[in-house]
Amino acid sequence: MAFSGIVSVEDILSSPDKYERILLLLVYPSRDVELAISRLEALQSIGVDRIILWGDTEVYGVKILGKGGSSLVLLVSYRGEPTVAKILRTDVGDKDLSKEARILRYIVEKIGEYKVSPRLVESLDWLILMEYIVGFKMGEFLSSQLYLLDRDELLRFLRLLFTKAYLLDSIGVDHGELSRPQDHVIIRSDDYDPVFIDFEYASMTRKPHNFTSVAQAVLVRSPASDYILDLLGMDRAGVISLLRKYSLGMSRHDFEDLLGKLLRFSPE
Ligand SMILES: Nc1ncnc2c1ncn2[C@@H]1O[C@H](COP(=O)(O)OP(=O)(O)O)[C@@H](O)[C@H]1O
Ligand SMILES: [Mg+2]
Repeated sequence: MAFSGIVSVEDILSSPDKYERILLLLVYPSRDVELAISRLEALQSIGVDRIILWGDTEVYGVKILGKGGSSLVLLVSYRGEPTVAKILRTDVGDKDLSKEARILRYIVEKIGEYKVSPRLVESLDWLILMEYIVGFKMGEFLSSQLYLLDRDELLRFLRLLFTKAYLLDSIGVDHGELSRPQDHVIIRSDDYDPVFIDFEYASMTRKPHNFTSVAQAVLVRSPASDYILDLLGMDRAGVISLLRKYSLGMSRHDFEDLLGKLLRFSPE
């Protein structure tokens, strides 16, 4: 069993030997305790007061939110609030987190009121501190929670998902991984509001395909497609042809027209 719990930053800094495993999460996979201490001090000076060992991933016998090819994702307490710290791994060469932070900042600046992405709290080359989205990842959602929603809730969820993806399209940000939404969308557990995460492969120069990617993934290719299409009174071929037509123009009018066809006129 991996260890879960809450440790104060003060305590770690005053007994680094005792908390070495936690310290080393900050410089994974190296064992550079000195660098880890300096990163923890930086976190402390930003306002991080506790590390919360919690999540579905296990590293060094403790629970964390996630581990990817270029970062570790930890839950921390920032001024008393659960907050996410995405921390650059030390084995990534020249890469850093500044581009991802820049894109998050841009999204929040342009369309922050729509809550398309987590709110950015603070960033450094090796750190993104951001809002903690409490909910289910899309993969899990599509295989279980989805079936608990009533029809109106499901329609609202799809409308929010598609509109947020379209909003990203409209500001010229391509997420890049929404054709595999399983790990890149968190659906809030209290109101089923979807939020896109992990903008590591996002681009502001590629042509955006967020809406068509996520719509295809959910309506055409997911294990829940049949269930959802049935509820919408649509068939796969119909959805594919609508999406194809949309992708020719991609205007706001085309999007609203498509959303109307997909969600509004489905049978009660
Ligand atoms: N803002 C967030 N709120 C809640 N959980 C998050 C957040 N950001 C990341 N996570 C969790 O951490 C995992 C890894 O984050 P991600 O950004 O995908 O990093 P990587 O690509 O390095 O795996 C996600 O799959 C998710 O479970
Ligand atoms: Mg990733």
